[in-house]
Amino acid sequence: MLDDIEKVLYTKEEIDKKVGELASRITADYRGKDLCVVSILRGAAVFLADLTRKLTDINFTIDFLVLSRGKAGSSGEVKIIKDLDHPIFKKHLLVVEDMIDMGESLHYVVDVLKLREPASIRICTLFEKPYSRTLDIECDYTGFILPDKFVVGYGLDFHQKYRNLPFVGALKPKLSPY
Ligand code: IMP
Ligand code: MG
Repeated sequence: MLDDIEKVLYTKEEIDKKVGELASRITADYRGKDLCVVSILRGAAVFLADLTRKLTDINFTIDFLVLSRGKAGSSGEVKIIKDLDHPIFKKHLLVVEDMIDMGESLHYVVDVLKLREPASIRICTLFEKPYSRTLDIECDYTGFILPDKFVVGYGLDFHQKYRNLPFVGALKPKLSPY
Protein backbone atom coordinates (compact mmCIF):
# COMPACT_ATOMS: atom_id res chain seq x y z
CA MET A 1 0.00 0.00 0.00
CA LEU A 2 2.79 2.48 0.87
CA ASP A 3 4.28 1.77 -2.58
CA ASP A 4 1.22 3.38 -4.16
CA ILE A 5 1.94 6.77 -2.56
CA GLU A 6 3.92 9.31 -4.58
CA LYS A 7 4.33 11.89 -1.83
CA VAL A 8 3.20 12.52 1.75
CA LEU A 9 1.46 15.90 1.78
CA TYR A 10 0.46 16.11 5.45
CA THR A 11 2.15 14.05 8.15
CA LYS A 12 0.39 12.50 11.12
CA GLU A 13 1.93 15.20 13.34
CA GLU A 14 0.81 18.08 11.09
CA ILE A 15 -2.73 16.69 10.98
CA ASP A 16 -2.80 16.19 14.74
CA LYS A 17 -1.74 19.80 15.34
CA LYS A 18 -4.35 21.14 12.93
CA VAL A 19 -7.11 19.00 14.48
CA GLY A 20 -6.13 20.45 17.87
CA GLU A 21 -6.43 24.01 16.53
CA LEU A 22 -9.87 23.30 15.06
CA ALA A 23 -10.96 21.72 18.35
CA SER A 24 -9.91 24.82 20.31
CA ARG A 25 -11.94 27.10 18.05
CA ILE A 26 -14.97 24.80 18.20
CA THR A 27 -14.74 24.57 22.00
CA ALA A 28 -14.69 28.37 22.33
CA ASP A 29 -17.68 28.77 19.97
CA TYR A 30 -19.95 26.06 21.38
CA ARG A 31 -19.44 26.22 25.12
CA GLY A 32 -22.87 26.06 26.82
CA LYS A 33 -24.78 25.33 23.59
CA ASP A 34 -26.94 22.32 22.74
CA LEU A 35 -24.60 20.90 20.09
CA CYS A 36 -25.03 17.92 17.79
CA VAL A 37 -22.00 16.87 15.74
CA VAL A 38 -23.18 15.41 12.44
CA SER A 39 -20.69 13.29 10.60
CA ILE A 40 -20.83 12.11 7.02
CA LEU A 41 -19.61 8.55 6.63
CA ARG A 42 -17.35 7.02 5.68
CA GLY A 43 -14.57 9.46 4.80
CA ALA A 44 -14.98 11.68 7.87
CA ALA A 45 -14.84 8.82 10.40
CA VAL A 46 -11.13 9.06 11.16
CA PHE A 47 -11.19 12.86 11.47
CA LEU A 48 -14.32 12.71 13.65
CA ALA A 49 -12.70 10.22 16.02
CA ASP A 50 -9.64 12.43 16.51
CA LEU A 51 -11.55 15.73 16.62
CA THR A 52 -14.13 14.60 19.17
CA ARG A 53 -11.45 13.27 21.52
CA LYS A 54 -10.02 16.78 21.61
CA LEU A 55 -13.41 18.35 22.40
CA THR A 56 -13.24 17.47 26.07
CA ASP A 57 -14.54 20.77 27.49
CA ILE A 58 -17.95 20.81 25.81
CA ASN A 59 -20.95 18.48 25.74
CA PHE A 60 -22.44 17.26 22.49
CA THR A 61 -24.19 14.35 20.82
CA ILE A 62 -22.94 12.63 17.67
CA ASP A 63 -25.11 11.43 14.79
CA PHE A 64 -24.24 9.97 11.40
CA LEU A 65 -25.35 10.39 7.83
CA VAL A 66 -24.36 8.13 4.97
CA LEU A 67 -24.43 9.51 1.45
CA SER A 68 -24.10 7.78 -1.86
CA ARG A 69 -22.94 9.64 -4.89
CA GLY A 70 -21.22 9.16 -8.22
CA LYS A 71 -17.49 8.53 -8.37
CA ALA A 72 -15.31 10.86 -6.26
CA GLY A 73 -14.19 13.76 -8.37
CA SER A 74 -17.04 13.32 -10.84
CA SER A 75 -20.46 14.83 -10.66
CA GLY A 76 -23.22 12.42 -9.75
CA GLU A 77 -26.52 12.49 -7.92
CA VAL A 78 -26.16 12.73 -4.12
CA LYS A 79 -28.54 10.68 -1.97
CA ILE A 80 -28.91 10.02 1.75
CA ILE A 81 -28.76 6.27 2.24
CA LYS A 82 -28.69 6.42 6.05
CA ASP A 83 -30.36 9.35 7.78
CA LEU A 84 -29.69 10.82 11.23
CA ASP A 85 -31.18 8.79 14.08
CA HIS A 86 -32.33 11.78 16.17
CA PRO A 87 -34.30 15.02 15.63
CA ILE A 88 -32.24 18.20 15.25
CA PHE A 89 -34.98 20.81 15.74
CA LYS A 90 -33.51 23.82 17.64
CA LYS A 91 -30.12 22.15 18.05
CA HIS A 92 -26.83 23.70 16.99
CA LEU A 93 -25.36 21.49 14.27
CA LEU A 94 -21.72 21.09 13.38
CA VAL A 95 -21.36 19.06 10.20
CA VAL A 96 -17.96 17.34 10.13
CA GLU A 97 -16.59 16.43 6.71
CA ASP A 98 -13.32 15.03 5.46
CA MET A 99 -13.17 17.01 2.24
CA ILE A 100 -15.10 19.63 0.31
CA ASP A 101 -14.30 19.28 -3.35
CA MET A 102 -16.99 20.36 -5.78
CA GLY A 103 -19.26 21.04 -2.82
CA GLU A 104 -22.18 19.01 -4.08
CA SER A 105 -22.35 16.49 -1.24
CA LEU A 106 -22.35 19.13 1.45
CA HIS A 107 -24.65 21.51 -0.37
CA TYR A 108 -27.23 18.76 -0.55
CA VAL A 109 -26.79 17.82 3.13
CA VAL A 110 -27.12 21.42 4.33
CA ASP A 111 -30.29 21.92 2.26
CA VAL A 112 -31.86 18.78 3.73
CA LEU A 113 -30.87 19.60 7.32
CA LYS A 114 -32.08 23.22 7.13
CA LEU A 115 -35.62 22.00 6.48
CA ARG A 116 -35.61 20.43 9.96
CA GLU A 117 -35.12 23.87 11.55
CA PRO A 118 -31.97 23.50 13.64
CA ALA A 119 -30.86 26.55 15.68
CA SER A 120 -27.74 26.87 13.49
CA ILE A 121 -25.60 24.92 11.03
CA ARG A 122 -21.85 25.24 10.70
CA ILE A 123 -19.38 23.19 8.72
CA CYS A 124 -16.02 21.82 9.75
CA THR A 125 -13.86 20.16 7.10
CA LEU A 126 -10.31 18.94 7.39
CA PHE A 127 -9.60 19.50 3.68
CA GLU A 128 -10.89 21.82 0.99
CA LYS A 129 -10.24 22.02 -2.75
CA PRO A 130 -11.71 25.48 -3.41
CA TYR A 131 -10.82 25.65 -7.12
CA SER A 132 -13.08 22.75 -8.11
CA ARG A 133 -16.18 24.16 -6.39
CA THR A 134 -19.35 23.96 -8.52
CA LEU A 135 -21.72 24.93 -5.68
CA ASP A 136 -21.09 27.66 -3.16
CA ILE A 137 -20.39 26.43 0.37
CA GLU A 138 -19.30 28.56 3.29
CA CYS A 139 -17.08 26.55 5.53
CA ASP A 140 -16.65 27.80 9.11
CA TYR A 141 -13.73 25.63 10.19
CA THR A 142 -11.22 24.51 7.54
CA GLY A 143 -8.08 22.51 8.23
CA PHE A 144 -6.01 22.52 5.04
CA ILE A 145 -6.46 23.86 1.52
CA LEU A 146 -5.31 21.08 -0.79
CA PRO A 147 -3.41 21.33 -4.05
CA ASP A 148 -5.26 20.04 -7.11
CA LYS A 149 -4.35 16.41 -6.54
CA PHE A 150 -6.23 13.29 -5.66
CA VAL A 151 -5.22 12.37 -2.11
CA VAL A 152 -5.73 9.38 0.14
CA GLY A 153 -5.23 8.47 3.79
CA TYR A 154 -6.60 9.63 7.14
CA GLY A 155 -10.07 8.40 6.14
CA LEU A 156 -9.89 9.39 2.47
CA ASP A 157 -10.09 6.51 0.04
CA PHE A 158 -9.64 5.47 -3.53
CA HIS A 159 -11.97 2.56 -4.30
CA GLN A 160 -12.36 2.07 -0.52
CA LYS A 161 -8.59 1.58 -0.02
CA TYR A 162 -6.00 3.64 1.91
CA ARG A 163 -8.36 5.02 4.59
CA ASN A 164 -6.12 3.54 7.28
CA LEU A 165 -2.97 5.48 6.35
CA PRO A 166 -2.08 7.80 9.26
CA PHE A 167 -0.93 10.57 6.86
CA VAL A 168 -2.46 12.16 3.74
CA GLY A 169 -0.61 11.56 0.50
CA ALA A 170 -0.94 11.79 -3.26
CA LEU A 171 -1.29 8.58 -5.22
CA LYS A 172 1.24 7.80 -7.94
CA PRO A 173 -0.01 9.28 -11.24
CA LYS A 174 -0.57 5.85 -12.81
CA LEU A 175 -3.03 5.00 -9.98
CA SER A 176 -4.65 8.41 -9.59
CA PRO A 177 -8.15 9.08 -11.01
CA TYR A 178 -6.97 12.52 -12.18
P1 IMP B 1 -17.90 17.08 -3.33
O1 IMP B 1 -17.54 18.24 -2.45
O2 IMP B 1 -19.37 16.95 -3.57
O3 IMP B 1 -17.10 17.04 -4.60
O4 IMP B 1 -17.56 15.72 -2.55
C1 IMP B 1 -16.51 15.62 -1.68
C2 IMP B 1 -16.28 14.15 -1.46
O5 IMP B 1 -15.58 13.59 -2.58
C3 IMP B 1 -15.39 13.95 -0.25
O6 IMP B 1 -16.15 13.79 0.93
C4 IMP B 1 -14.62 12.70 -0.64
O7 IMP B 1 -15.36 11.56 -0.24
C5 IMP B 1 -14.55 12.74 -2.15
N1 IMP B 1 -13.25 13.27 -2.62
C6 IMP B 1 -13.02 14.44 -3.26
N2 IMP B 1 -11.70 14.61 -3.53
C7 IMP B 1 -11.08 13.52 -3.02
C8 IMP B 1 -9.69 13.10 -2.94
O8 IMP B 1 -8.74 13.76 -3.38
N3 IMP B 1 -9.46 11.91 -2.33
C9 IMP B 1 -10.46 11.12 -1.81
N4 IMP B 1 -11.76 11.47 -1.85
C10 IMP B 1 -12.07 12.65 -2.45
MG1 MG C 1 -16.88 12.40 2.37
